[in-house]
Amino acid sequence: MARVLVTRRLPEGGLDPLVDDGHEVLQRSGDTPYTHAELVEAATTVDAVVCLLTDRVDEVVLGAGASHRLRVVGNVAVGYDNIDVAAAQRLGVAVCNTPGVLDETTADVAFLLILAASRLASDAERDLRGGAWSGWGVTQYLGYDVHGATLGLVGYGRIGKAVARRASGFGMQVLHHTRKPTGLPGYVARLDDLLAECDILSLHVPLTDATRHLIGARELALLRPHAVVVNTARGPVVDEEALAHALYTGALFAAGLDVYEREPDVHPRLLTAPRTVLLPHIGSASHATRTQMARVACQGVCDVLAGRKPSNLVTT
Ligand code: DGY
Repeated sequence: MARVLVTRRLPEGGLDPLVDDGHEVLQRSGDTPYTHAELVEAATTVDAVVCLLTDRVDEVVLGAGASHRLRVVGNVAVGYDNIDVAAAQRLGVAVCNTPGVLDETTADVAFLLILAASRLASDAERDLRGGAWSGWGVTQYLGYDVHGATLGLVGYGRIGKAVARRASGFGMQVLHHTRKPTGLPGYVARLDDLLAECDILSLHVPLTDATRHLIGARELALLRPHAVVVNTARGPVVDEEALAHALYTGALFAAGLDVYEREPDVHPRLLTAPRTVLLPHIGSASHATRTQMARVACQGVCDVLAGRKPSNLVTT
């Protein structure tokens, strides 16, 4: 039996793999995030940590844990930019994530943002709720059609492909760009060409050194003025300052965002930007998916603790 720290409350049933394997689960009451110092301290007392993307599991945490008994970290997210995987690798701590179980749910939210941003749903709803709607008008809230538009996907992994499937039902033309050629229909080798051709840009890349501010002022300027930018990947993939500027100046028609550069803070100019739909990182937030994510992360931890190689291992 191992001792496993679970840093936050998980959906009901999410802990089942740990419980079924008879592990001791260390979870404090309430749902207050651990401070970094608390996490460093706690890591020295456990064999495994199940954490969320809001926990910064850096070299200090991993080093403290590894110098005691820490063997594995399970991240309840598919993205793992909150974990220093290179340090984990060096220190012999395994890292697992939750691939494959949130693709459709996240693609639903990407599509929600595509529709809501293109059709100005947030501005229109805000006016209605605020009593500023004076009645139907033929020139009010004019957006751009999603059906028939050209969708540009940056990143074409499981989530990007799930968005592409939805887009085909809307009669959209779907293009995609990845660094390595996919050999699939719709592949565009140069990001700049994709930007110039699409009506709606949707981002589906992990956050790495190569993708930080992948979409900045230069890239936004390549988009057409009626274009819409949607980000359900990671906030820092987009330069928020540049995005807010493009929205204010009308160089960009609209944006739909689920992720931010400095969560939970949102760039103040984005908070007030016109034609912008803002969601609080809810891409995978359905009952079934969040439960499944918790189970997958915990199962990976159980596998490592039992000496098995989990299918969701990030480290090698
Ligand atoms: C992830 O899993 O990386 C998402 O951002 C949260 O579902």
